[in-house]
Amino acid sequence: MSRRALVVGNWKLNGSRSANAQLLAAVLQARPFGCDAAVCVPFPYLPETAVTLAGSDLRWGAQDCSAHDSGAYTGEVSAAMLAEFGCRYAIVGHSERRALHGETDQLVADKARAALAHGITPSVCVGETREQREAGQTDAVVKRQLSAVIHALAHCAGEIVVAYEPVWAIGTGLTATPEQAQAVHALLRAQLRAATARADAMTLLYGGSVKPDNAAALFAQPDIDGGLIGGASLKAADFIAICRAAG
Ligand code: 13P
Repeated sequence: MSRRALVVGNWKLNGSRSANAQLLAAVLQARPFGCDAAVCVPFPYLPETAVTLAGSDLRWGAQDCSAHDSGAYTGEVSAAMLAEFGCRYAIVGHSERRALHGETDQLVADKARAALAHGITPSVCVGETREQREAGQTDAVVKRQLSAVIHALAHCAGEIVVAYEPVWAIGTGLTATPEQAQAVHALLRAQLRAATARADAMTLLYGGSVKPDNAAALFAQPDIDGGLIGGASLKAADFIAICRAAG
């Protein structure tokens, strides 16, 4: 089955109004890429990003969303609010949020459900730490993380994007080999097949030190449908090259 590739930039806690304007202008000018592409920006930049990208085929999203719709949750941003800005995606369960903010599998699942309820595609991140890989626990860890989301979403499980991001590869320059990444992607797709008839149409992204020089080999793998890009998404030339590798 042929799936259209997707490349998503995760800007993390980076950017400024002027830097964003320059980056987005360069990316817009370089299209078309032959793949779908999106940028997930810090919350305050969403309105401006929505205006800049309106009418283009470059999509935008957020890096998180609350599991709640409204209420006494200081500092949180709901999926309903994001939807007002035309967000197409919300990253949920990024390993930085799991590790630094104590997000549990259940909370990640609740966030995914909240996003979908407002028409936003959750990009659900799963991935093992280096210690877990060395202990032979990779398969069990990613299966457990995805299982919580599948269980919470039930018949909607086929509507998410899944991003495999080995924690040891994030921001370290240590990329999983294409074979290592493919093995986990195949496992995740098999798990999805058991849950939804849409599994073969679903988009599975790889993230973790994707760069222009390793992107093509990763994206050539049968179950890798694109990338979730951190550091390289902040450099226009690199992000553009990665999008072209996916196209
Ligand atoms: P890097 O591309 O900087 O390794 O980050 C990957 C990531 O965490 C994307 O969500």
